[in-house]
Amino acid sequence: MKIIGKGQKKPKPIRVKIREMEIGDIESVWNMGEKQFLEIERLNWDWSPESIGKYLDPEEGFGFIAEKNGEVAGFILVEYSWSLQKRKAGSIEWIMVGRKYRHAGIGTQLIKRALTKLRRNGMKEVIATIWSKNKPSLKTFNKMDFKTRGKLIFKSRRL
Ligand SMILES: CC(C)(COP(=O)(O)OP(=O)(O)OC[C@H]1O[C@@H](n2cnc3c(N)ncnc32)[C@H](O)[C@@H]1OP(=O)(O)O)[C@@H](O)C(=O)NCCC(=O)NCCS
Repeated sequence: MKIIGKGQKKPKPIRVKIREMEIGDIESVWNMGEKQFLEIERLNWDWSPESIGKYLDPEEGFGFIAEKNGEVAGFILVEYSWSLQKRKAGSIEWIMVGRKYRHAGIGTQLIKRALTKLRRNGMKEVIATIWSKNKPSLKTFNKMDFKTRGKLIFKSRRL
């Protein structure tokens, strides 16, 4: 997506309603993520209605929806317990804001809500994995004080 640099006009903030994800949101969330998260060359994790549904299990995690005029403008899907060793670390697994709503503060609002809920549920840390070329995402998380802990390089070869 277009990166807006210094001196360029940034879009006005958009007010949205942030609410918990419900079963009825699965299809909209899946459709919104389909184009980007299903690209075959991307080496992305599972993106399917079933994998989205697991965030409705309060033992596993949660999802928040940003709603504008009755439509899903964005979402965030979060898991508790990154690993057996890091049970107190939550993980932001997926976040997306619809194209027409981007760079207007919605991603930031979704992350803030997720952090509050993670804290309330006893998490002490939160982890996000981001592709190194995904500048808008890196900027969004950097702005929210996420620090780079390491750089994971995906390698593959044909067989
Ligand atoms: C990443 C994403 C969720 C960010 O959501 P967003 O609502 O656009 O983010 P925000 O408006 O809250 O932006 C937060 C900060 O990030 C930076 N930023 C975000 N988009 C930007 C852009 N296009 N150009 C320049 N800076 C940008 C800005 O510093 C911004 O803060 P500021 O407006 O106060 O300057 C959104 O770009 C998106 O859905 N991308 C596609 C899906 C994706 O890549 N998900 C992440 C997988 S890890």
